[in-house]
Amino acid sequence: MTMKFSLKSLSLSQACADKSDALLILMPSQATSAKASKASWPLAQTVQGAQASGDFEDKAGKVLTLYGAAGVASRVAVIMSAGKGSAKDVRDATSAGMAALKGRSVKKLTICLGDESQSQHLPIVMQAIADATYVYTATKGTGTKDKSGRVLAQVTVGVADSAKAKKAFVHGQALVAGMDFAKEWANRPANYATPTMLGDAAKSLAKAHPAVLCEVLGPKEVAKLGMGSFMSVARGSNEPLRFIVLKYMGGAKSAAPTVLIGKGVTFDTGGISLKGGAGMDEMKFDMCGAASVLGTFRALAELKPKLNVIGLIPATENMPSGHATKPGDVVTAMDGQTIEVLNTDAEGRLILNDALVYAKRFKPAAVVDIATLTGACGIALGAVRAGLFSTNDALAAELHNAGERALDLCWRLPLDDEYAEGLKSNFADVANVSDRQGGAVTAAKFLERFAKDYPWAHLDIAGVAWKGGREKGSTARPVGLLLEWLLSK
Ligand code: BES
Ligand code: MN
Ligand code: ZN
Repeated sequence: MTMKFSLKSLSLSQACADKSDALLILMPSQATSAKASKASWPLAQTVQGAQASGDFEDKAGKVLTLYGAAGVASRVAVIMSAGKGSAKDVRDATSAGMAALKGRSVKKLTICLGDESQSQHLPIVMQAIADATYVYTATKGTGTKDKSGRVLAQVTVGVADSAKAKKAFVHGQALVAGMDFAKEWANRPANYATPTMLGDAAKSLAKAHPAVLCEVLGPKEVAKLGMGSFMSVARGSNEPLRFIVLKYMGGAKSAAPTVLIGKGVTFDTGGISLKGGAGMDEMKFDMCGAASVLGTFRALAELKPKLNVIGLIPATENMPSGHATKPGDVVTAMDGQTIEVLNTDAEGRLILNDALVYAKRFKPAAVVDIATLTGACGIALGAVRAGLFSTNDALAAELHNAGERALDLCWRLPLDDEYAEGLKSNFADVANVSDRQGGAVTAAKFLERFAKDYPWAHLDIAGVAWKGGREKGSTARPVGLLLEWLLSK
């Protein structure tokens, strides 16, 4: 079921009169709250009383849940403190409000922002609602309740002035569509998201949205291009590789495009350098970079900004077999550089490098690759920030700042040449691995060799792209960062 958002001008009183299954009210932020909580709306006294008694602390994340409140048309009302009204406070408030509704059947929701300045945060509010209500369905059996998907079908977003909030609202709609799409593909098990199926997903996206063009190359075309590095990863698999090319050309013909490259390893066993068994299922998420590119294109299709964006997705499995590449094998990338494959589990860089070389043909303004590249990046930065590497300070700053605005954070890591020392090979131009120390940086140094001809950045999303444990599933990161960055151009 797809969730529909609609935007309305609503005062707090009007929101109380609006009949939904549940009403969320984001209180005005602290600076403006004194006058608004005194203003006359049906819950003004209740809120004031609860604040005075200490039952409702004015701090982001604190909520007051009411059932059948007088003057409220909806069954349940949740009042959310907006704290100081920062993007993060507004997100935490919305998430807390949604958590208070967990377990209730809410098909129709109204959310009212009590303070005009909060409407700039609409994409974050809408994202928090979408995140809280997302339901994975693709491989649930018939007869289970999850099969029908998200229960929440309709969300009315109330703001002080709907005309002024329109732009942020439309951004929010596109963001949610893009993130849902990214999650859908990232979460699928590898047997429901083969390279062929990813290619078909990109093709159907293009078919449904004429603003997006798509071309999918197979083994023959990729061989003809000379992508020997990419092909060396696919050798061990029975699933044929795909090289997906997406184009969104909404800008001037003469405007140099931005290229996004997403790592699309649909399952990473490690190859002959086989991984251990524990948690190996999570290597179905090794195509989260690819999913983030698909999601970003889904959002662009919705928003139609005046921009030119190319998406490249090298998609393959990394499997051991009698045909698989062996440690020590030397392979030749599209630009002629030879690579000694010392570890077949460092496969991401062996598919991204050929895509980086391929990207040159577009004379890009910038190239950003997005990859679940190294466990080491997860060790360095955890699940909070993605690793950001760039040869261009301006590009690095743009991406960093877009991440801050979208609350989809990243942190720049270095690219000193000393980190490439360990990549020296006696038998090829470069080796694909160094020692374990600084593994996220050496991986980036490897990629840098293939990204010399344009401003380039690399996002290592290994730590942030999915959650493990009970909450196992895709986060759709960094769709928020990428969309925010592209739209700021
Ligand atoms: N897909 C993995 C990286 C990864 C591992 C992401 C765990 C998230 C969680 C990548 O292909 C890989 O296996 N990298 C190796 C590199 C090493 C062999 C130099 C790694 O991180 O161990
Ligand atoms: Mn690997
Ligand atoms: Zn991998």
